[in-house]
Amino acid sequence: MAIPEEIISEIKNRNDIETVMAPYVNLKRRGKNLVGLCPFHNEKTPSFTVYPENDSFYCFGCGVGGDVFTFTSLIENLDYVNAIRLLAERSGISIDDNSYDNSMQKLKNTIYDINKETARFFHNYLMSPDGKWALDYLVGRGLSVSTIKHFGLGAAPDSWDALLKHLKAKGFSINDMLQANVIGKSQRGTFYDRFRKRVVFPIINIRGNVVAFSGRAMPGEDKSGGKYVNTSDTPVYKKSDNLFAMNFAKKDCAERIILVEGNMDVVSLHQAGFTNTVAALGTAFTPEQAKLLTKYTKEVVLMLDADAAGQKAVRRAGEVLADTGLKVRVVLVPDGKDPDEYIKKNGKERFAALLEGAVSEIEYKLLTAVSGIDTEAADGKVKYLNLAAEILAQTPDIITRDIYIGRLSEKYGISSTTFKAKVEELRKKYVRQEKRKEIREVISPTRKSGEVNPEKRSFPKAAAAEECIIAILLQHPDLIQKATQRLPSEKFLTSLNRKIYSIVSENFESGKGVDFSYLGQFLSPAEMGYLVSLQNSDKGERNPEKVLYDCISSLLFENDLKTVKQSGDMSVEEWADNLANIIKNKTKGN
Ligand code: CTP
Ligand code: MN
Repeated sequence: MAIPEEIISEIKNRNDIETVMAPYVNLKRRGKNLVGLCPFHNEKTPSFTVYPENDSFYCFGCGVGGDVFTFTSLIENLDYVNAIRLLAERSGISIDDNSYDNSMQKLKNTIYDINKETARFFHNYLMSPDGKWALDYLVGRGLSVSTIKHFGLGAAPDSWDALLKHLKAKGFSINDMLQANVIGKSQRGTFYDRFRKRVVFPIINIRGNVVAFSGRAMPGEDKSGGKYVNTSDTPVYKKSDNLFAMNFAKKDCAERIILVEGNMDVVSLHQAGFTNTVAALGTAFTPEQAKLLTKYTKEVVLMLDADAAGQKAVRRAGEVLADTGLKVRVVLVPDGKDPDEYIKKNGKERFAALLEGAVSEIEYKLLTAVSGIDTEAADGKVKYLNLAAEILAQTPDIITRDIYIGRLSEKYGISSTTFKAKVEELRKKYVRQEKRKEIREVISPTRKSGEVNPEKRSFPKAAAAEECIIAILLQHPDLIQKATQRLPSEKFLTSLNRKIYSIVSENFESGKGVDFSYLGQFLSPAEMGYLVSLQNSDKGERNPEKVLYDCISSLLFENDLKTVKQSGDMSVEEWADNLANIIKNKTKGN
């Protein structure tokens, strides 16, 4: 059940959007609006816009937007209804608990409980006589019992339903276990434990909740299901937003954090005292993970395996981190080892020295670019210096560029003026390209609207008319009645716009207006962003009523066209006749 519109507007009135945002976003006035750096994605130029006029916001960079409740739900990681509830509490308004739907928050809490119980079950099994095979394995890899307890490591028995039975006995439902992704459903419709005969790493978020698991197969037994089985995304877990061991590392990483590839590397480095180590949970490093790092540290040391995959990962992570302003250095672990093997073989001191020798990202790039090129030969030298010039051209700091220009021209015996001219020419080109890219991304909210409303691609003209209608109704609620008299919601060809229009018209019929925040209960933040961009567009600035009617008739026209296109068994004459009629009606209608 939805929260009544009157209560929502009361809560909204008591929570001024600028005040609510102030702790999170630094807003500066620009004309009648406010702008700042978006707290929901990484950016250097502000595209986060607040419209005090109608208490809404929209980010031209990432497309999210909405009202004070959407903002709160995103920043506090709550669903929309609970964001309303939070702001209600802050302003001393009570909402009857039974009158709204908080089932999502309840489900999340149940999943946290299931995960906690599952972690306990796996850990107890590991420490029991039956789990000896797993404990032997972990101890054999050099882990102490206290490390195992610190990380809450566990093991899953070689059974299809041991966990399932355990959780059932604790009173959890099959459906909730499925939602937590600790069990799966077979094609025959039976249920089974997802983790079997594996050592298990619980993944704990920064608030201390167990959110997921990563299960490693025993050596030689990874044929079925792969070396690792991981929890898929669930209502409490998004792989791309989390880092393994961030819950521990966050205390010790103010200066620098070490990013490695594997769970085992993390556990082993923490045991050796490098408690500022995290791993990316088997995904390519994402912008969300980079953003998480910016909250806790100043510098990232990428420590990746020296194989091709590791180098690719360095490049990718480097690109993602370049946008964050964090300092980035790179260490390649020698001899094709991973950090876990390296520290076991060489000890803490050599590992610390390896860390100290971390090179800047640009040195790293220059070093890897030279591999496979014979710089003794003239054509090899040309090839390498051209690559190096490309790399330097992407470096924003002019002094850094100058230093490397000097070093390289000396090393390879060329004129530094020539080399510099080459680098600066490429630099100009690069900056131009970047600018163009940025402009393309910032200017066009309609490009974003295609993402929010993918059906727009199939019905571009109808969708444009629909957007125009919705924009005008948001700006001029007094026209809702006129619109509903002429246009039933079935005529909308794209389902997102149909949904929005239906909510607006149903709410109107029950005697209410079109409060934007009422719609928030039914829409996602991206969809809310889309609404804000419509609300603040200049559609219908002059003579809105006429523009509304024009849009309605062109939407009706698109409906008729669609019908005609669908009647494939019409003869050409009938088809032409029909079309002529439609066009005649259209002109009459106006
Ligand atoms: N990974 C995964 N699925 C796989 C392989 C790897 O999710 N099939 C992820 C895991 O998070 C793993 C990381 O990628 O920790 C690195 O993989 P790998 O180097 O193969 O594993 P290690 O952690 O080094 O494990 P071990 O040392 O036990 O071989
Ligand atoms: Mn390893």
